[in-house]
Formats: sequence, C-alpha cells, structure tokens
Amino acid sequence: MNIEKLMEWTKEPAFMNRKQEIFFLEQWISEKPDSLLFIFGPKSSGKTTLLSHFIEQNLPGSRYEIKHFNLRKIFIVNYQHFIQTFFGVDYSKSKADIKERRQYNLKVFNLTVDTLKGLEDKSLDPFAVMEKELQKTANHGIRPVIIIDELQALEGIYLNGQRELLKELFNFFVAMTKESHLCHVIIASSDGYFIERIYNDSKLKKTSKFLEVDYLSKEDVQFWLNDLAGNSKIKKFTLTNSQKEQMWKIFGGSCWEISSFLGDLLRVASDGFIPDDEFEELLEQKKITMRSMFEDYAGLNKQKTGLFRAINQVNSAQPHIKLRDLAGIVENGLFAEPELRKELSELVRQNFLAYNPVTAEYTIQGRSMEHGLRMFIEMIDDTPAAN
Ligand SMILES: Nc1ncnc2c1ncn2[C@@H]1O[C@H](COP(=O)(O)OP(=O)(O)OP(=O)(O)O)[C@@H](O)[C@H]1O
Ligand SMILES: [Mg+2]
Repeated sequence: MNIEKLMEWTKEPAFMNRKQEIFFLEQWISEKPDSLLFIFGPKSSGKTTLLSHFIEQNLPGSRYEIKHFNLRKIFIVNYQHFIQTFFGVDYSKSKADIKERRQYNLKVFNLTVDTLKGLEDKSLDPFAVMEKELQKTANHGIRPVIIIDELQALEGIYLNGQRELLKELFNFFVAMTKESHLCHVIIASSDGYFIERIYNDSKLKKTSKFLEVDYLSKEDVQFWLNDLAGNSKIKKFTLTNSQKEQMWKIFGGSCWEISSFLGDLLRVASDGFIPDDEFEELLEQKKITMRSMFEDYAGLNKQKTGLFRAINQVNSAQPHIKLRDLAGIVENGLFAEPELRKELSELVRQNFLAYNPVTAEYTIQGRSMEHGLRMFIEMIDDTPAAN
C-alpha cells in the first residue's frame, strides 16, 4: 500500500476563504514594523488556524524568522517557566543532533548556555537578550516575526516583585515595533476582555492595529457544504439542499461546529447520503445540548435567568447588544450596573457571549447558542419551542 493510501482520512480540516484577512496580513507584514497587531474574534472562529495558514503559505522561511508561541499548549506559571518557554540553548554550537536543533530553532530565542544561565539566575534582563537576538536576525537580512497566541496566559506573572511580565512584554513590543522598527508582533486572543483592556489602554491603542476574525459568511458555508470532498476530503456522503440550509440555520458560520457536525454525520452515512431522520435527530441533540448549557448555568438563579431573558429579547431584534440595551434590568432593580458588567464579563469568559472591543458590543457566541438561549427561555416560560 502506498503512503498516500495509508495516510488517507475520512475527513480533514477545511480551510475556507479568509482572503480578506490574509490580504490584510500580507499588507501589514510588508510594511516596516510600526505597530502591534491584535487578532480577536469569537471563540473558535479560526484565529489560530488563520495564523498557521498565513505562516505556512505567506512567510517564506528564507526571508522571515518566525517565533510562534501558542501559550494554550504551554503552561506558564512563573518566571522560570517563561524563560524556559521563550529561550533555549543554541544547539548549532554543540554536537546535538540536527533534528533536535531544528525543533528548537523554530520555537525559541537560541542562546548560549551562559546567556541562558544568566536569564535563569536573573542576572540578565530577558528583554535586553531578546532585543539583541532580534537585532542579530535583522542584521542577516531576515525579518523577525513574533507571534503569540493566547497571550493572556501570562497574566499575573511577575518578573521580580513589582514588574509585571505582561506589561514589560508590551513595553518591549512597542519599543521593538513603533520605536526600533525591528520586528513584527502579532498577538491573538479569544478573551474579549483581555483585548478590551488593551484597546482601552490609550498608549497601546495608539500603537496597535486590530484585526477581527469572525465566523464564516453564508456564501463560504454553502461553498464548503456543496463540495465536501474538495473541502473536507469527505467522500462518504453528500448533503441535500435542505440539510445544508438547516446546518446554516443552526450553526451559522461557526467552523468548528460545522466541522464537528460533519464528523457526527460520517457515522450515520449510508449509500452516500444522510437519512433525514438521522440528520434531524443529531441536529436536535445539538440544540438540546445548547439549551442545557443555559439551563446549567442559570440554575434557579433569578438574576441569571432574568439577564438571559433580557439578552434573548434584545437578540430577537438585533444581533449586537450594547450595555445600554440592557438598561431595563438595571431600572427594574435586578442588577446594579457594576454587577451587570461583572456578570456580562463572566458570560464572555464562559463563552456564552463574545465581546467586540472595537465596537463595545456583545453578541451571542454563535448561532447554535442563540437557538439554545431561545429554547431555554421558551422552556422556562412554558411556551412551545418554535423551530
Ligand atoms: N477558515 C476555516 N475554514 C474551515 N474550518 C476552519 C477555518 N478556520 C478554522 N477552522 C476550524 O475551526 C476550528 C477552530 O479553529 P481555531 O482553533 O483556529 O479557532 P480559534 O479562533 O483560534 O479558537 P479559540 O478562540 O479557541 O482560540 C478548527 O477545528 C479548525 O479546523
Ligand atoms: Mg486559537
């Protein structure tokens, strides 16, 4: 059996569209570094995937040195962990085998053992070391690019007592971009409040650009579902027009949910199709799961239930929700304003809501969540659920 046959999967990750976002990234990276770039968007909208795709397709290794840290994969709790994550030994000066060298070269600033020791015992400043390394790269005619995914993971880490790592890192990035024009810096986060804090910090706002990665459009989803073999390597079934329409209705442009549902469908495919009753049943299960999330979170709590009811009401008229749209529940005494803000931020943290820092608007985190919320309110108000 040849290797291609061996590596054949029944489904592979799709990558739809993102032309506009890639065009923006291409333009931004071709300018001399002058600003930090923040990539934000609702949970699972495809930020990390876009960045990986952009690095692979648009940043040739011969011209760019990419330092890509995905802090979701790395657990950093203190200064020592930070140093171990960001810095490594330069194996090119030792006899360590080539494979290991490559692995390190991709991920960290490569230092001599002495410099690394200096960082570990805090006799050297990590930012001075980083700057020197970036300068070395730039001197070779190679453009350094630092990409950090899930930067909020560094919150609450201090360098020595007073110096907060995250603040120092931002100061450093501003110095490296706006002041020295030495390297590009891209930061991605799905934590809307983290991005908001940055957006509201006037110094950072002035030195940053913001790129939103939102859910896919209806056109993209249709294109995806019309050609499952081409886009997801799914050969076991095709969907009927009504099934495609229902998927758009329930999942909207949420890539992860579409992809995961296609996986569920694979298991019930028969003779190249999905029987309608199986399709309906799986979709119903998804909707019930979404409703249960609201049920679990609100429990018997009147405030939480009241807020969900108010959000549902605003959402039935418009997708974007501003704080002032919820003024009614402050006026009727359900929440004091600070409490309401706190509860909304908790709903963002729990992925019920997404927060757009640029427009200061909330949206329900995806279509399926909108359905879940509506079903939950209909259930507690004891009216029949509409489809
Ligand atoms: N353009 C796309 N077309 C189709 N599927 C996509 C696309 N982008 C991402 N996906 C799929 O959606 C899922 C979530 O993507 P990803 O992890 O990149 O989102 P994210 O925004 O980084 O999530 P988080 O908010 O958790 O950081 C993955 O399974 C990925 O394969
Ligand atoms: Mg991500």
